[in-house]
Amino acid sequence: MKKTVNTFRDAKANGQKVTMLTAYDYSTAKMMEEVGVDSILVGDSLGNVMLGYEDTVSVTMEDMIHHCKAVKRGAPNTLVVCDMPFMSYQTSVYDGVVNAGRLMKEGRANAVKLEGGTGVAPVIKAIVDAGIPVCAHIGLTPQSINAFGGYKVQGKDTAAAKKLVEDALAVQEAGAFAVVLECVPSKLAKYVTEKLHITTIGIGAGNDTDGQVLVYADMLAMFSDYKPKFVKHFANVGEEMKKGIKGYIDEVTAGSYPAEEHGYSIADEVMEEIQK
Ligand code: KIV
Repeated sequence: MKKTVNTFRDAKANGQKVTMLTAYDYSTAKMMEEVGVDSILVGDSLGNVMLGYEDTVSVTMEDMIHHCKAVKRGAPNTLVVCDMPFMSYQTSVYDGVVNAGRLMKEGRANAVKLEGGTGVAPVIKAIVDAGIPVCAHIGLTPQSINAFGGYKVQGKDTAAAKKLVEDALAVQEAGAFAVVLECVPSKLAKYVTEKLHITTIGIGAGNDTDGQVLVYADMLAMFSDYKPKFVKHFANVGEEMKKGIKGYIDEVTAGSYPAEEHGYSIADEVMEEIQK
């Protein structure tokens, strides 16, 4: 069955958890759809994980469209949410609508995600009015890393916690169908989840949000530059890949790969003919 924004709405109504993982390519997205993830986020974390940047600031619209198209081809029946990259919606409401439209038309996304609370509510409203589902993202918003001065838990003191609640209500009011809560204390995320009628998706926000999201390269131990506290390794794919690559190097250098069964045959007469 096709997963859509209604899957999120129904899950919240029925008290069921939703699952979201990032993916950036066809083969990974295909595997995710095969095992039943509800939603795939083509996150701008592709800047870190795929492109090797130290943050998400340099990621472009072209990067997002390129990866989103590949993901959608791999997961035609999954809700694919595409991140709006830094400066594709902060400059004006008009830019936000045009760029959200490009992610849908060219990237074939089913929804877009953008970072911010009260400040971006007018952009969210305009994109939603254009018929594009929006997932909001509050708490730690990595595109603002230079303003935050580092990756830190958000909403810890009274003023910051109140601001987070205000942001959550503002994005809901603007028409977002879901909101990612990143690096938020668990009790505060629970409070926000109970206050909202839209889906909350936690990452480093405890176990009481309506759903969870993780960067797939983190949860499969493929990305080793750093490991946030909230990441759990569900499989050690990074080590398995290294083992496989090392095995290939060893066998090629030893001359044992490719073996006879990996080659193609040719008639002896042909070989004789060409050597005459
Ligand atoms: O870009 C991303 O992967 C994200 C998730 C961490 C929520 O925004």
